[in-house]
Amino acid sequence: MRDLSTDILIQVMEDVIEDLHGHVHRVSDLAVNLGTGLDLDQDDQKRLALAGVLHDVGKIHLDPGILGKPGPLTEEERELMRRHPELGFAMTRNRIDPKVAEAILYHHERYDGHGYPFGLTGQEIPILSRIILVADAFDAMTSVRAYQPALPVDYAIDEIRRNAGSQFDPEVVEVFMDLAERDLLPQVLAS
Ligand SMILES: [Fe+2]
Repeated sequence: MRDLSTDILIQVMEDVIEDLHGHVHRVSDLAVNLGTGLDLDQDDQKRLALAGVLHDVGKIHLDPGILGKPGPLTEEERELMRRHPELGFAMTRNRIDPKVAEAILYHHERYDGHGYPFGLTGQEIPILSRIILVADAFDAMTSVRAYQPALPVDYAIDEIRRNAGSQFDPEVVEVFMDLAERDLLPQVLAS
């Protein structure tokens, strides 16, 4: 499903945004593993692979000073940052599978309705986005970020479990916990 222009876009994104280097591929791999555990069909697996690498593509439009800021963001900066799902959707709609563009648009919606940009709840959020949210959260916690050092894997697993039903879809978390117990979560390689 990926073509040359998509590959170039992904490379540019990883080169320009330090925090996304490597991250997008681990999110993609974990998302596909979660999708397999949820018995999604082959088409959705392919969509997950692509949405996994492209979920944060809208960040290309944001100020690098905000993306690389080591400390907490101001309210205004947070508002700008929160625009990235819609920016990514605008970039990809009409260019790729509409379900992949939708997965990008809704990847920060929370199961309990406290996410953004729309505050959708539960099953209103496309399953591909509910999966990417879990994969993204796990990898963001366990990799080095401009704003925080890498957190221990066990801590991240605990956080995901603790937030089942609030931030995350409990069914997706169940599959995630199964992968964790079987030691099948992607590991961040020390660089
Ligand atoms: Fe994001």
